[in-house]
Amino acid sequence: MKEQLAKIRAEALAAMEAAQDSAALDALRVQYLGKKGELTAVLKMMGKLSPEERPAMGQLANEVRAALENALEEQGKKLEAQALDSRLKAEALDITIPGKTPRLGHRHPMYIALDEIKEIFIGMGFDVLDGPEIELASYNFDRLNADEGHPSRDWSDTFYFDTDSRVMLRSQTSPMQVRAMETRELPIRIIAPGRVYRKDEVDATHSPMFHQVEGMVIDKGVTMADLKGTLNAVVEHLYGKGTKTRFRPHHFPFTEPSCEMDVQCHKCGGVGCPTCKGEGWIELLGAGMIHPRVLEMSGIDPSVYSGWAFGMGLERTAMRRFKIADLRLIFENDMRFLEQF
Ligand code: PHE
Repeated sequence: MKEQLAKIRAEALAAMEAAQDSAALDALRVQYLGKKGELTAVLKMMGKLSPEERPAMGQLANEVRAALENALEEQGKKLEAQALDSRLKAEALDITIPGKTPRLGHRHPMYIALDEIKEIFIGMGFDVLDGPEIELASYNFDRLNADEGHPSRDWSDTFYFDTDSRVMLRSQTSPMQVRAMETRELPIRIIAPGRVYRKDEVDATHSPMFHQVEGMVIDKGVTMADLKGTLNAVVEHLYGKGTKTRFRPHHFPFTEPSCEMDVQCHKCGGVGCPTCKGEGWIELLGAGMIHPRVLEMSGIDPSVYSGWAFGMGLERTAMRRFKIADLRLIFENDMRFLEQF
């Protein structure tokens, strides 16, 4: 029996040490220590030993059992650590690889100027409207009192989609006046910024696509004084307190009377210089009191309501705001230019 125990011990320990996973180890536990295990079988034969032999054999058997249990536990721990180790290796993330730094941009200078314009008008209770760039000639011309034959309707100035000249790229944001009258309750206070299109060659001051901001107020008892007061407040907000403006008579089919507003040249203070072409003033926008026929065509009674409107060039406003000399810089997206704002 002594030899038997020694043999079991040697075989079992060798097998356990060689076990490659926990399933194999479990099988060995059953093979040696289970109910029908090899060591268990030897222990069952203890009863057949003589009383003299029994204590020494019993002690030896217990030692073997303890050694086997110990080996099972040790090998179990070892396998567990190995498994953890290989999982960590397989799932390793190399956090030392440098990430991709996102390039942070900022607002385009023209939109900085637009946001400033919006800010002051929203503060005065105006809503900001958006409208279609593909427009019907009836909104762009007819309902703005520019009949067939008006020079601005000419094919040499306007991008039409059809031979009947009914659908076009809007040449001004003024159709938004009509759209606002059509859809909104009176009184109306809106601005409508957006792109407009005209057949112009690109140069330092022209582009076939540019931006305007339309503004309109319709209420009872609205006068030219409100127009001037509002526009003066806008100019002071954009160009600083005390900036001087001047209103010159002009003509637009949809306003009567009509005017253009100039701002005193920021470069020379009104004396005259190359920036203002010697004039001392720089043109900023067209405006006027809405023509009674325009109100009538949109179902508003001109004997009860009156209103004013203006249309300002956004690129020009931004160019003056940031002292940009060439319009093309605004559209070219040259980082060396844009990074300056
Ligand atoms: N739409 C005119 C233009 O493009 C500007 C304007 C708007 C004039 C509103 C008067 C009233 O020149």
